[in-house]
Amino acid sequence: ERDSIPVITIDGPSASGKGTLADLVAAKLGYWVLDSGALYRATALASLRAGVSLDNEHDIAALASQLDLHFEGGQVFLGHEDVTHALRDETVGAMSSKVAALPAVRLALHSLQLAFRRLPGLVADGRDMGTMLFPQAGLKVFLTASAATRAERRHKQLISKGISASIADLREDLEARDLRDQSRKVSPLKPAADALMLDNSSQTIEESVDLVLSWWADRRPFH
Ligand code: DC
Repeated sequence: ERDSIPVITIDGPSASGKGTLADLVAAKLGYWVLDSGALYRATALASLRAGVSLDNEHDIAALASQLDLHFEGGQVFLGHEDVTHALRDETVGAMSSKVAALPAVRLALHSLQLAFRRLPGLVADGRDMGTMLFPQAGLKVFLTASAATRAERRHKQLISKGISASIADLREDLEARDLRDQSRKVSPLKPAADALMLDNSSQTIEESVDLVLSWWADRRPFH
């Protein structure tokens, strides 16, 4: 029964480090990972390529429901194409937060996300994992970091890939996306009532991983 498969949800704003935390926690536990943002990003990429405009909710939802997306190691494939880098593009990121506000798109991606729940367990990261997709998750984490910290991290990440950007612009983009993610009508970004808050502004990744693992050790139903 899928409902009995353990799930840890990690929700939070852009560039809070959810993806890294989810990957490391999952690796420690031997669990699967759902990077739900990648599904919205892939939908955005497909829409941009197909030239479908944002007011065409129906066609964007159709693209979402037909996504031929595969995760292999650290790479993401759309059909046969490696879109790992394309999905991280800032244009795609900005578009993804717009397509994510469309109810038909969220509905189209719903069952695809639930299908990631497989034995021995799942770590799901996104905006609404604990509130909408996996409300019965054994552990819900809401990860935050100050906008300044997140902008700095994103900046370092881009520099390391040889992409130049201004911290001020990055911070502006992050805050615009946060606002859109928090204020949309469907599945807004907000902590589940029973989420544990984790502010990692002044924590190392290892400290955050250890904290989540210790919470999980206390809470998981079986040992
Ligand atoms: O986590 P991310 O930056 O890759 O997510 C990209 C966009 O997708 C983000 O602006 C909000 C949206 N998103 C969402 O609405 N719900 C999720 N579960 C995950 C992402």
